[in-house]
Amino acid sequence: MRIKSAEFLVSNSDVAKCPKDPFPEYAFIGRSNVGKSSLINMLVQQKRLAKTSGRPGKTQLINHFLINKNWYLVDLPGYGYARVSKSDKKVFQKFITQYFEKRKQLVLAFVLIDCRHEPQNIDIEFMEWMGINEIPFAILFTKADKLKPMALKKNIERYKLNLLESWETMPPYFITSASKGIGREELLDYIGSINQEVNKS
Ligand code: GTP
Ligand code: MG
Repeated sequence: MRIKSAEFLVSNSDVAKCPKDPFPEYAFIGRSNVGKSSLINMLVQQKRLAKTSGRPGKTQLINHFLINKNWYLVDLPGYGYARVSKSDKKVFQKFITQYFEKRKQLVLAFVLIDCRHEPQNIDIEFMEWMGINEIPFAILFTKADKLKPMALKKNIERYKLNLLESWETMPPYFITSASKGIGREELLDYIGSINQEVNKS
């Protein structure tokens, strides 16, 4: 799929105020600093559409980006960031949870995992929660440029083994790097094929 246009539409902390149009949307979720905003920028080939930072906790709202005037990418705040105050964390958690529970236009969530790290409970539990709530998701391994091919392969295999302890089959997954553009075409084609299915039904 080609990206012809990508524009920021709205930020808010209330799912009820998210855009009303029926366009399919894809949300980016994962630990703070995993590279959600950077990956959105990589997909649309704009450096500063979504705000990024070396310090975790940059994205604090639900951000809708309208792509090709007929679907959305949604950038969300990260979870598991220790330095956000407890009360802020609760507010984040509440509106993120409500977003996933209530947003009808959400067709798929991308759960981002830093390919360098061992499986973390917070991510495993989040994916289990998605499963229980029947929210479709795919995994995006991020920052693939930071590992050599063998180490990358080893980490992905380790992750798969971990997931297969609780899942019957491995969810769809992609290996990506925002800085090197790895996975861009594959991911856009994947989204394109889901958009086609959604538009048929
Ligand atoms: P929050 O909004 O705080 O939840 O973070 P985020 O998940 O949106 O992460 P963000 O995109 O802001 O990126 C965090 C840091 O990781 C930044 O310093 C990015 O430059 C860096 N980063 C993101 N993606 C990549 C990547 O593919 N490769 C490398 N080397 N660095 C990356
Ligand atoms: Mg962000």
